[in-house]
Amino acid sequence: QTIFRKDYTPPSYLVHTVELGFDLDPARTIVANRVTLSRNPASKSKDLVLHGEEIDLVALRMNGKTLAPGQYVLGSHTLTIPKAPAEVTLEIETLCAPELNTTLSGLYVSNGSFYTQCEAEGFRRITYFPDRPDVMAKYTVMLRADKQRYPVLLSNGNLLEQGDLDGGRHYAKWEDPFKKPSYLFALVAARLVCQEETYTLKSGREVLLQVWVEEGNLDKTDYAMQSLKNSIRWDEERFGLELDLDRFMIVAVGDFNMGAMENKGLNIFNTKFVLANPRVATDIDYAGIEAVVGHEYFHNWTGNRVTCRDWFQLSLKEGLTVFRDQEFSADMIGTASGRAVTRIDQVRTLRQAQFPEDAGPMAHPVRPDSFVEINNFYTVTVYEKGAEVVRMYQTLLGREGFRKGMDLYFQRHDEQAVQCDDFRAAMADANGRDLAQFERWYSQAGTPVVTASTRYDAAAQTYDITLSQRCPDTPGQTGKLPFHIPVAVGLLGADGKDMALALDGEVVGATTAVLELKEAEQTFRFTSVREQPVPSILRDFSAPVVLEYPYTDAELLHLFRYDSDAVNRWEAGQRLAMARLLKLTAAVAQGATLALDDTFIAAQRAVLVDETLDAAFRELALVLPSETIIAEQMEVVDPHAIHAARQFMRRTIARELAPELLAQYQANQTPGPYSPDAQSAGKRGLKNLALAYLLIDPGSAELKLAQRQFEQATNMTDRAAALSALIHSGEDVRASLQSFYDDFAGEALVVDKWFAMQGAAPNTDVAAVRKLMQHPAFTLKNPNRARSLLFSFCNANPSQFHAKDGSAYDFWAEHVIALDALNPQVAARLARSMDRWRRYAPALQDQMRAALERVARAAPLSNDVMEVVSKALAN
Ligand code: ARG
Ligand code: ZN
Repeated sequence: QTIFRKDYTPPSYLVHTVELGFDLDPARTIVANRVTLSRNPASKSKDLVLHGEEIDLVALRMNGKTLAPGQYVLGSHTLTIPKAPAEVTLEIETLCAPELNTTLSGLYVSNGSFYTQCEAEGFRRITYFPDRPDVMAKYTVMLRADKQRYPVLLSNGNLLEQGDLDGGRHYAKWEDPFKKPSYLFALVAARLVCQEETYTLKSGREVLLQVWVEEGNLDKTDYAMQSLKNSIRWDEERFGLELDLDRFMIVAVGDFNMGAMENKGLNIFNTKFVLANPRVATDIDYAGIEAVVGHEYFHNWTGNRVTCRDWFQLSLKEGLTVFRDQEFSADMIGTASGRAVTRIDQVRTLRQAQFPEDAGPMAHPVRPDSFVEINNFYTVTVYEKGAEVVRMYQTLLGREGFRKGMDLYFQRHDEQAVQCDDFRAAMADANGRDLAQFERWYSQAGTPVVTASTRYDAAAQTYDITLSQRCPDTPGQTGKLPFHIPVAVGLLGADGKDMALALDGEVVGATTAVLELKEAEQTFRFTSVREQPVPSILRDFSAPVVLEYPYTDAELLHLFRYDSDAVNRWEAGQRLAMARLLKLTAAVAQGATLALDDTFIAAQRAVLVDETLDAAFRELALVLPSETIIAEQMEVVDPHAIHAARQFMRRTIARELAPELLAQYQANQTPGPYSPDAQSAGKRGLKNLALAYLLIDPGSAELKLAQRQFEQATNMTDRAAALSALIHSGEDVRASLQSFYDDFAGEALVVDKWFAMQGAAPNTDVAAVRKLMQHPAFTLKNPNRARSLLFSFCNANPSQFHAKDGSAYDFWAEHVIALDALNPQVAARLARSMDRWRRYAPALQDQMRAALERVARAAPLSNDVMEVVSKALAN
């Protein structure tokens, strides 16, 4: 059943207060809910509709009187009281079985303790309630549980009292002083320990910060705590937003569907985004923790204080909060070059995951118009493209203008549930700007293509850039209208320096001009241009578009060598590589001989050894476009040819640059105690990239280098990189794999890495994956573990996933079905691996369709998986 944005109606009743009482028991938890409501004047309906799923109704009283069965209607997912009075107090008692809840939505048990996940629609699995984000209320929560097994009882807000009860039980009473929607409710009843400290806000107010983890993990909480303090400070300084509670808690749980959840005052996190020390976590893990801790903390204002009217508005909070966490991470690095490195990473994510989504069967606007299952719309489009849309306001309005817009947004909408349009209106009104056309970024799906052409008139000293735009049709959406696109442009002279810019005779005052493309086609005239420039277009990736410009190799080499905009400098290198990768792929397919030109190798060499550049940038510049990104450039995808072509290029680079790679390997060692700072991480990144290159050739002389790093590494970044390089070398590395496993068998997150590395290795075929699944440490029930092997194989190992006999597609179908019986949200994510099936060569396509049909026929099938596979088959 499809739900449409246009069908929104206000809730028939509004909730004032909610008092919840929990008697926690894994098999049989009793939830008592006393809720006061009144009829919403904005609604015509007098029917009081509550949502409920997988819970048993035990008792129901309205205004003190038990309701007889005829006075309410119990549907499979709703409880309706027709023609209810204007003012209502409901007392609802329900039963649920947390230990049987494998969906990890609602109240569930993980490693013997209780946790909740209510976004988007999990609260209805706990009690009957108008479970929609535009119903905001004040909550008081009483938790009762066995004291021995669940010594820690947490919920949102402030602890009012706690104490002992009969029978070895105890209680804790919590009150959240702020109105909130039900999706922000949380409780934890667990055996946990915490790192805590009092922290002083800029205003002088003291707050209590806690990071709760299972015993044995207290040696892994420092970085999360530090990141939390940095986040609090950053939001005060950049946006003037202060923590509004006296207490802020982070809880880590090993079974979790997503990354983390911003429940008011009680953020619940996947352990992956909390636990870190040098022994078990990599540089990437550290960066992930900083970003996610920031993200959830920033939601306290963008999401919690101002929330969404309905789930179609999800990007209102997610796009904005991703943008905020991106800016936070960039500011934490502090340098311009470090900021650029984070930006390049964002561009890579968009191309790797969002552009394909925009071009596939699940394409949807940043603000979708319809969905079957909202959990399928926590996507890279809503999150990452949504963040790009927010970033474009800042590009158009400037940092100060953006801040003014944010201030007005909070002034207008604090403690309200609003829409994406309200955010846009605040940005426009605070800056006296017309942003009407900008709305299309929210309503139109698909990645716009901007085509540029240029013309230099030496006599007139003018340089014209003509920009035109188009956007491909997407399922259900044709005939797109022009977007309002900020296109940042700089002009490089023959000396490699930025030219001073004037547009139509007016001095720009900066070496980058932001051109505002609003029509299907527009020409912009730069004046007083003394020589033919090389244009640097879409600097800093100023809009989430594909840029087409017929760059010559010479121009790209110029940009790769000189562009002051690091993103476009990197981009020039990617274009040079992509053009060659596509030619090589065609050559592989035709059985022609493969060759790589010296010019390209020389350019790679120049970047590799350029000591004026950050190591992190050099690493990014040397990483070739992924097989997925190459595939997106092809009409008909041949994954085996792509793999062979890319491997050929890597091997050639490795051979030609062997001495330089070895020198960089030595020069970028980071002796001494581990630190996750960007400088050191960048060095490790470059060093380990060099190592991977050095091990590409079978029988590489540098095998012992990797072996030594593997054995002597003092941190997980270096150890895992060495193991990965060894696995990819194609040598027999069973002994190393075993010793790694033995060393880290007790660290679930490291065991995940162990599975993931093997799942993604091009020499791991489907038979090998099946064998790995027999390993005692493998389980489908834990999302991190399932993702570590299955997702890495299906999404990050294309040459094996697309095995010609279709065996991996069968494997995929089998496990989507198996996972669906346990956890539909995780199953539906795996189902997305087939999104692009129509692009593959016919022989593969037929087998992919067969696998999709096999899943579609399976019964029972969740809404989640059904939506994904039926859209794939239909589009
Ligand atoms: N709001 C969370 C975040 O982005 C994501 C939770 C989504 N969970 C879900 N099951 N859909 O921070
Ligand atoms: Zn979020």
